[in-house]
Amino acid sequence: MHCTRKVTDNIYWVGGNDRRLALFENLFPIPRGVSYNSYLIMDEKTTLMDTVDFSISRQFIENVQYVLAGRTLDYLVINHMEPDHCANIEVLVRLYPEMKLVGNAKTVQMIKQFYEMDLEGKVIEVKEKDELSLGVHTLQFFMAPMVHWPEVMVAYEQSEKILFSADGFGTFGALNGNIFNDEMDFDRDWLDDARRYYTNIVGKYGVQVQALLKKAATLDIEMICPLHGPVWRSDLGYFIDKYDKWSRYEPEDNNVVIIYGSMYGNTENAANVLAMSLADAGVKNIAVYDASVTHVSHLIAEAFRCSVIVVATPTYNGGIYPSMESFLLDMKALGLRNRKVGILDNGTWAPTASKQVKKILEEMKEIEILGEVSIKSTLKPAGLANVEELKDAIMTSLNA
Ligand code: FEO
Repeated sequence: MHCTRKVTDNIYWVGGNDRRLALFENLFPIPRGVSYNSYLIMDEKTTLMDTVDFSISRQFIENVQYVLAGRTLDYLVINHMEPDHCANIEVLVRLYPEMKLVGNAKTVQMIKQFYEMDLEGKVIEVKEKDELSLGVHTLQFFMAPMVHWPEVMVAYEQSEKILFSADGFGTFGALNGNIFNDEMDFDRDWLDDARRYYTNIVGKYGVQVQALLKKAATLDIEMICPLHGPVWRSDLGYFIDKYDKWSRYEPEDNNVVIIYGSMYGNTENAANVLAMSLADAGVKNIAVYDASVTHVSHLIAEAFRCSVIVVATPTYNGGIYPSMESFLLDMKALGLRNRKVGILDNGTWAPTASKQVKKILEEMKEIEILGEVSIKSTLKPAGLANVEELKDAIMTSLNA
């Protein structure tokens, strides 16, 4: 059975959801599932905006054929060639042999890499600001390299003022019948997943996201249609503001996240002592995570959210505790910057992890180390003054 919704009078959501997939990109847990959005514009030229992941092909093809109602498909616009969106190109080419594929030079190169397909006479190659008339609707293309792959482009539909934004403004989470942001409590139910999606998938490319936001600012946009998650048709400024903050690596909250690794609870105890001391000093909504039981994608999202990050780690094999090292290296790989960091290390005979933590932090940009606490095996009353000193430095930073 088809499963579609109207986005506007002549534009339809024809995507689908996957609530079975455990790990997006075989990396990121998605307990709320994920949607793969695709949009079909019904005009003189019928035009499909991207396809979907292979896992939902059957539903997708049924949706497309239902909306086409016997018409052929004229254009397939390929804004992004990652397989979660491009997996159905070949089947559509077989179903609609006259269909033209619309993409840029890099798109074409990637189609050839992913598919054995004769593209002769099948491609309309577009460049920055090129327009494609569909009848009443006109698409204008803007290149958005590295948001999230080099071939990415976005398409602006001029008559209805819709931005088809590819991965931009996407989020983890399946669409539960409601596909519009104003049909859900986004802040309560979606924001954490949106942040986790952005920071882990696109987080490294803040400069390129800023470039796209600058282009978008020149357009009169009334609706944003991303490839994952809700369609934005109200309060666009709210989500654009989030993307602006995340891509400038500006913290959303002037607050503290404490992330620790702990083998026997002693480093955890020191982390908790620091958290209580901060709470006594008036800090609210402190976040504390055990890196061994929290997927690193959540830790990354929290590190992007907060202005102060405390890293607490045992010394392990003369280095950093593995789950903490994974978090730190991920933070570095994603280019997080402009953060204040407190370090707490522990070791029974040679507490040296802080040295390696600092080495990683020094290779990052705009990271200020607020203080270091080193304990031997357990935090003792004699060591409390050091924790208090770190707390004071954090308070000074929060109150600055
Ligand atoms: Fe949703 Fe970069 O693919």
